[in-house]
Amino acid sequence: MLDTPSQAVEDVRLQSFSVTYEYPVVFTQDAFALGNRSLVDVLSRREHHKRHRCLICVDQGVLTSLPDLTSQIENYASAHAGSMELVAPLVPVAGGEICKNDPRTIPSLLELLSRHAIDRHSFMIAIGGGAVLDAVGYASAIFHRGVRHIRFPTTVLAQDDSGVGIKNAVNQFGLKNLIGSFAPPWAIINDSSFIDILPPREKRAGMAEAVKVALIRDGKFFNWLEAHADELARFSRPHLHHLINRTAELHMRQIRLGGDPFEMGSARPLDFGHWSAHKLEQLTRNGVNHGEAVAIGVALDARYSVLSGRLAAGGDERVVNLLERLGFVLWHDMLRHCDPRGRPLVLKGLADFQEHLGGELTVTLLAEIGRGVEVHEMDEKIVGQSINWLEQRK
Ligand SMILES: NC(=O)c1ccc[n+]([C@@H]2O[C@H](COP(=O)([O-])OP(=O)(O)OC[C@H]3O[C@@H](n4cnc5c(N)ncnc54)[C@H](O)[C@@H]3O)[C@@H](O)[C@H]2O)c1
Ligand SMILES: [Zn+2]
Repeated sequence: MLDTPSQAVEDVRLQSFSVTYEYPVVFTQDAFALGNRSLVDVLSRREHHKRHRCLICVDQGVLTSLPDLTSQIENYASAHAGSMELVAPLVPVAGGEICKNDPRTIPSLLELLSRHAIDRHSFMIAIGGGAVLDAVGYASAIFHRGVRHIRFPTTVLAQDDSGVGIKNAVNQFGLKNLIGSFAPPWAIINDSSFIDILPPREKRAGMAEAVKVALIRDGKFFNWLEAHADELARFSRPHLHHLINRTAELHMRQIRLGGDPFEMGSARPLDFGHWSAHKLEQLTRNGVNHGEAVAIGVALDARYSVLSGRLAAGGDERVVNLLERLGFVLWHDMLRHCDPRGRPLVLKGLADFQEHLGGELTVTLLAEIGRGVEVHEMDEKIVGQSINWLEQRK
């Protein structure tokens, strides 16, 4: 007979394993020119000699600007019929935040994946701005618990930041990126020819992320941005391409080497200037786009860094001068809107920012140009003074 233990036995077996993620980020031009092998090479990177089944979703904004894209892609697929097969005609997806706000987007993408029998060895390919990539990426991540997903970012912001990362999301309950996942893609193809057709406002927006990441990671790059602000403001092709490549590399390096790719901790190390930016996007109902909001958020937190004694005086001026030379407007009247108790509405962004990750509030500020520093408290009075400063400068 077994002895009856006098108290409950606890039997803990620790499961532990690690997985290496690997995905190529290809920088190319004219990806759908017949001789460009970027796409067929990434499709075949684990399984050669196979006809890969592909479903392709395209940002409506891209299709409108590039009406020939559909036939180009069809011709490309025919020319490479040994390696790929389009399981359906190109699927247009409404571009911009609309697709992340519309509750019908994800169910309709899932229905599409199901109808075309996309399995875990076939591919969902997204061509578009950060919003379309986020929505299609999320549907791909949850369908069959994750199907292979290839991204073609088509904006400066998506090529230098959002599109080269591993996150996706859609908006829900009025909150940005409330529902989403971490899902390393199969591959990313940054095709510079998409940037050539981008409207000026969108070209500029992505530069805010370059200023942001230079400020917290790479002082030399910040100096380069200052030295070439005029060319960048004119969207000079080689300068814009250097900006995209360097910014993408800095974002990729953080994911690769930062030690917390899936953001398990409380920090969002690259989200400098973002606590107020996300709130401004929401409060203005996307009247300011992500990049424009980031420019304001970066200016605000640069001033805060000086007023709180972290960044040497004058550093804030350098930041706002650069952003203004690039063409950003560093003010929005929404910064003045207060709740009934007279508290600026944008301050609610701090709580939202903390709530997104949980844990301790962690905000990145500047210790110097090129070096960020994490803080766990924000003084609302100093935020108010920083807002006043921006308003006086306008
Ligand atoms: N997943 C992440 O890690 C992450 C990080 C940062 C930002 N984001 C998200 O990215 C989104 C912003 O993305 P965005 O700045 O790329 O803009 P966007 O996706 O909102 O697109 C802006 C507009 O440009 C159009 N467009 C896109 N490419 C075009 C092209 N080549 N030519 C002509 N028009 C084109 C779109 O149709 C849209 O109207 C936000 O939703 C933001 O939350 C995600
Ligand atoms: Zn951003």
